[in-house]
Amino acid sequence: MKPSLFSAPSLEGVVRRVSDWVDLQESFLLETCRRVAPRAHGRLLDVGCGQRPYEELFLPYVSEYVGIEHEATFGRTHASKSAKVPDFYYDGVRLPFEDKSFDTVLNVQVLEHTPEPGRLVSEMARVLKDDGLLILTAPFDFRLHEQPHDYFRYTPHGLRTLCDKAGLEITETAPMGSLWSIVAHKLNTYLAFRVARIGSVAQSMGKLPHEGSVAESPRLWTFPLVAPVMVGLSAGARVLDRVLEEPDESMAFVILARRKPRAS
Ligand SMILES: C[S@@+](CC[C@H](N)C(=O)[O-])C[C@H]1O[C@@H](n2cnc3c(N)ncnc32)[C@H](O)[C@@H]1O
Repeated sequence: MKPSLFSAPSLEGVVRRVSDWVDLQESFLLETCRRVAPRAHGRLLDVGCGQRPYEELFLPYVSEYVGIEHEATFGRTHASKSAKVPDFYYDGVRLPFEDKSFDTVLNVQVLEHTPEPGRLVSEMARVLKDDGLLILTAPFDFRLHEQPHDYFRYTPHGLRTLCDKAGLEITETAPMGSLWSIVAHKLNTYLAFRVARIGSVAQSMGKLPHEGSVAESPRLWTFPLVAPVMVGLSAGARVLDRVLEEPDESMAFVILARRKPRAS
């Protein structure tokens, strides 16, 4: 693991919180998981858990939190060097669990990384109990990442079709961010990674876990200009998303799905 740039843990904590707030995608995912966590119950399986960033949000509501990862794709990411690792690894084909063995299945920003999303949704449906709940988020508008394992983006209609084929019905769908946060996030990504080149700094703080390790040196001299612009863009986007809502744009969607009732 890279040595931290920040010697005082409290300062690192503050910087981490601010950077999570500026990072609109990360921030919206955390907000979404916090909002849906009380709906989770019983045994929870986090499929594609990465470095388990949402575990603490769900733990108060579940009896067990099990994380599983695709061994080959996970091994290529910076997250595989983290202290928080999955409980199980598999080959991405068949989840190594009995049918109907989990009450909740969580799947956060994973579906774009499998070339066969229908099979993954069917596998998650298979391990879900009859009264179980699938909580799934998938990107609609997000840059290429975790390449070459970045295959698809999703609309609510595509997610409904995948769930339907797996015997699930979606009970709720919600967007994450809108037009302005998409624009601000893209500009901030450009400023952070192309102008200030803070990829290695971000990884030393535990961010960008899903990318390979970044070796590039940061351009520290750009920080005084880039940092306030990024904060301003994120703040402005949050306000504009509310006052100039654009319902046909979203960074990602979250769905809650259940097994379809049997026809009597
Ligand atoms: C963008 S990361 C998201 C990780 C974590 N859910 C999070 O939100 O931080 C995508 C993860 O999906 C994993 N993955 C890719 N294909 C998978 C599959 N078929 N089954 C389970 N995990 C998979 C990758 O290894 C990677 O860790």
